Amino acid sequence: RTPGRRVAVFGAGYIGLVTGACFAELGHQVVVRDIDPEKVALLRSGEVPIYEPGLGDMIAGNKERLSFTLDLDEALDGAEIAYVCVDTPPSASGDADLSRLWTVLRSLEGATHLKAVVVKSTVPVGTGARVRTALDQAGLAHVGYAANPEFTAEGRAVDDFMHPDRVVIGAEDDAAARLIEELHAGVDGPVVVMDVRSAEMVKLASNALLATKISFINEIATLCEKTGADVEEVARAVGLDHRLGPHFLRPGIGWGGSCFPKDSEALRQLASNTGYHLQLLSAVIEVNNLQKRRAIQKLKDELGTLAGMRVALLGLTFKPGTDDMREAPSTVLASRLLAEGAEVRCWDPMARPAAAEPWSSTSRHETPELALEGADAAIVVTEWPQIKEVDWAHAAAVMRRPVLFDGRNLLDPASMRELGFTYMGVGRP
Ligand code: UDX
Repeated sequence: RTPGRRVAVFGAGYIGLVTGACFAELGHQVVVRDIDPEKVALLRSGEVPIYEPGLGDMIAGNKERLSFTLDLDEALDGAEIAYVCVDTPPSASGDADLSRLWTVLRSLEGATHLKAVVVKSTVPVGTGARVRTALDQAGLAHVGYAANPEFTAEGRAVDDFMHPDRVVIGAEDDAAARLIEELHAGVDGPVVVMDVRSAEMVKLASNALLATKISFINEIATLCEKTGADVEEVARAVGLDHRLGPHFLRPGIGWGGSCFPKDSEALRQLASNTGYHLQLLSAVIEVNNLQKRRAIQKLKDELGTLAGMRVALLGLTFKPGTDDMREAPSTVLASRLLAEGAEVRCWDPMARPAAAEPWSSTSRHETPELALEGADAAIVVTEWPQIKEVDWAHAAAVMRRPVLFDGRNLLDPASMRELGFTYMGVGRP
């Protein structure tokens, strides 16, 4: 095993923290730098600002090799590799906003002891070439450049990092590729080396294809409703074809999160900028938008009107096992319900919704049962396992009307109907 490298990680968000902790676990000396004083103070006191299983233990177990700082010089002191893990949120045009990336790159000026700069942030194809120019202008022409996109899913990011399906390295020269490959020694997965532009594209294409699978099964679910087929049976059998695979065929109220919405829009805009309209991806995004509106429409059809109705939202995060509310379908559902004049009550074990609209107009409850009290309808928005454990017989008794839209097909339709519920799922008869 080669001796540990000195790595400076820029950005202490989901990706930076997981990357920093995992590289420390692999034996490297890591300094994570962030510009947010509160976040750095929290990390220094041994706390982790996000919920990610295994991350806290890994950070705690690698104290000697992992530190956090606000100070640029401290981060760069002796660093051989700079890993850029800052966020690239959508800008007004839908293109990724790369301002944080450029700020980090400018700050590297004078760090002539660096051997390589690596961008892990998701960026438009072609960004690497601009990074190269920026490095040259910063007097770092001798420093290698690599793109190393991440494919970790929230809630299992540490495991995904240590046991990935693949590590993708896009590099302009062999030395940089070898260095980054060596940095991953101990990671249990194949390393794929390619040119920078292709590596940038792999990330966007992978996320777009995963989103496509979900939108596809969601459209099939709609058709199942119209034809009397059961999408759960259909998805199970379709997924047994090894060419298609069982993953990302779970129908629901649509995909959200920090990656799919942002990356699919960024890929669509990237195409538009070249004068090509990505037709398939545009439809995938449209299906996803519609999926949330259809959920509200179903309730409206059932209740006659939503005005004055009390609706309980069970689960707010974009998926279970995370506290992340970014692009969560629940936000669209809540604001549509409020726009229709409904009263919204909610429950979630982890979510930290923004204090702003629509959440400021909803009431939050400690348990699903409390949220369901007096409700005219409930929507299962996120498939938290706690929802299965609800005493649904009791819920049917305390709800004003036992109307349930199971947006994740989490519950058993027959048993719910037996309890007196008007049960609606996604693509189930
Ligand atoms: C995703 C990718 O999986 C990961 O590789 C990438 O690096 C970042 O984006 P993440 O956003 O954490 O990860 O969540 P993921 O578990 O992939 O789910 C994304 C969304 O799709 C969620 O809203 C989830 O509820 C939804 N989903 C997923 C479905 O509706 N059906 C499915 O079958 C799978």
